Amino acid sequence: MTKLEVFNPATNEVIERLDYTSNEDIQAQIERAHKAFQQWKKIDAHERSAKLMKWAELIDEHQDELARLITLEGGKPLAEAKGEVTYANSYVKWYAEEAKRVYGRTIPANAPSKKIIIDKFPVGVVGAITPWNFPAAMITRKMAPALAAGCTIICKPAVKTPLTTIKLVELAHEAGFPKDAISYIIASGKDAGDLFTEHELISKVTFTGSTAVGKTLIEQSAQQVKNVTMELGGLAPLIVHKDADIDAAVDGTIASKFRNAGQTCICANRIYVHQDIAEAYTEKLIEKVHALTVGNGLESDVKVGPLIDEQAVKKVLTHITDAQEKGGELSRSIEEIQSLGGNFLKPVVISNANLDMKAMHEETFGPVAPVMTYEDLDEVIRIANDTEFGLASYFFTNDYRTGLKFFNELEYGVIGWNDGGPSAAHAPFGGLKESGYGREGGIEGIEPYLETKYLSIQE
Ligand code: SIN
Repeated sequence: MTKLEVFNPATNEVIERLDYTSNEDIQAQIERAHKAFQQWKKIDAHERSAKLMKWAELIDEHQDELARLITLEGGKPLAEAKGEVTYANSYVKWYAEEAKRVYGRTIPANAPSKKIIIDKFPVGVVGAITPWNFPAAMITRKMAPALAAGCTIICKPAVKTPLTTIKLVELAHEAGFPKDAISYIIASGKDAGDLFTEHELISKVTFTGSTAVGKTLIEQSAQQVKNVTMELGGLAPLIVHKDADIDAAVDGTIASKFRNAGQTCICANRIYVHQDIAEAYTEKLIEKVHALTVGNGLESDVKVGPLIDEQAVKKVLTHITDAQEKGGELSRSIEEIQSLGGNFLKPVVISNANLDMKAMHEETFGPVAPVMTYEDLDEVIRIANDTEFGLASYFFTNDYRTGLKFFNELEYGVIGWNDGGPSAAHAPFGGLKESGYGREGGIEGIEPYLETKYLSIQE
């Protein structure tokens, strides 16, 4: 059987060769996870919590090793990769606590001789499919609440970045989780998606990735009315209003736009700046963007690593050339953008952007910041909402009325007000519209792994 080759996107060298898990082995693994569930669901919440705490301790101890793996297989600059390990571990720590806070309740009944009691139960075996852009955080964000709730979980990491998952699962076993309570498979998205959605012993499918794939998984899961959580695509608008602190808005833009070289679902995709401050904002943005060091994430001072592969580079270049053809002004030439070769692209600001450009209505997933000006607040909110996506949005204003108007009217699940980095383990991350459903993080993030039952007692 051919092996999976894992590449370093900074050098295009193969760094590991792994065996694929055969479909028969995946089926057997699902059966073992189901058997493990019969035991794991009976373990009391305090013990589940203690195991998650132990896992968190081991992740902290192995932060450098995990960060290096993230950089090697995903290209993320090392400092950012360390930040991802901390972020990933904050989910483990949060759900170690939440494991102890899965509360039921009682309801006053409609007869004195009756009592109604509500309790929550783990859904069962979870099949998780995760993306390459956060090889650690998207794993723990699913695994930690699943295990905290009493579920068992099998994860299928992205084939581009399986090594971080393998290490995380190894550490979980070292922390004392039963082998079949938390495991991974090496498989294509299609094989895992088919098996997870079709196998009757999988009770829940959780997926982070594209809206197109999410729709297929939802459709397939519908055959068994399977519980799903979907974290899908985004097209985040970032709005800078005329009363914003321009320096803070520029820093917030950089934080949002260039995280992981622009390859996150919540990266600002399209920027709208009020015409009164457009010149000052764009000038400062270009200065800071051009100061970002691009290179191999293992080298010190690198702020922007490579894109994940050649295909990603091609797509981003299409957005840049399309914008140029439609009247956009590039802050650096196409030749300079590509001057480092390989999967590297130097970040670019596109001023004079307009709504016809691909970069303003398709997810770019790269280091490109298109800036369009606007005059009217209601009009920019309308434009920001004029999409099937509803994951993240950002706005910058120092006026509280304008801020609350944005919050009330922007149709997005995650909203940053003067904040280019709104993600946190204690907040419910997730999208509206075609960006998915279900929330990950916060007290909401354990709910998708629980079923509610009620008991009506007649004396
Ligand atoms: C994502 O790209 O979907 C994850 C971003 C985050 O958790 O901040």
